[in-house]
Amino acid sequence: MRKILVMHGPNLNKLGQRDPLLYGTGTLQELNSLLVELAADLGVALETFQSNHEGELIDLIQTTDAAALVINPGALTHYSYALRDALADYAGPVVEVHLSNIHGREAFRQLSVTAGAASGLISGFGFDSYLLGLRAAASRLQKEVAL
Ligand code: DQA
Repeated sequence: MRKILVMHGPNLNKLGQRDPLLYGTGTLQELNSLLVELAADLGVALETFQSNHEGELIDLIQTTDAAALVINPGALTHYSYALRDALADYAGPVVEVHLSNIHGREAFRQLSVTAGAASGLISGFGFDSYLLGLRAAASRLQKEVAL
């Protein structure tokens, strides 16, 4: 069974407590449980990882055996060229996701420096952004197999 790695960047461990009007009231654990359920339906294995440290995210991107990535880089989205380079080097499909609509927020959040290294970006649908992202990554993998 092929594995998809879902990565949560800085401060996403605080989901549920952090600005609930923007990010909702559900916790990271609840989000991960929804992802595990959907992965089972889609027939893919799932690993989840959260870190507040850019280097830890990059180390895992470089070493993972996952066939695809779904990543919410948090604030790193807006300035981390190092994370972008790691995503660009990663061989499989990458889906970038955001809970909030980054294009409707402060000017500094409207630019994603990482999205250019992703297959696509889903932003603004709360937990559904991740669930849609997981579906997109699984669909990409299926199409690769069919090719
Ligand atoms: C976020 C948007 C970022 O601007 C912010 O720094 C986050 C969360 C989102 O999911 O909407 O940490 O990535």
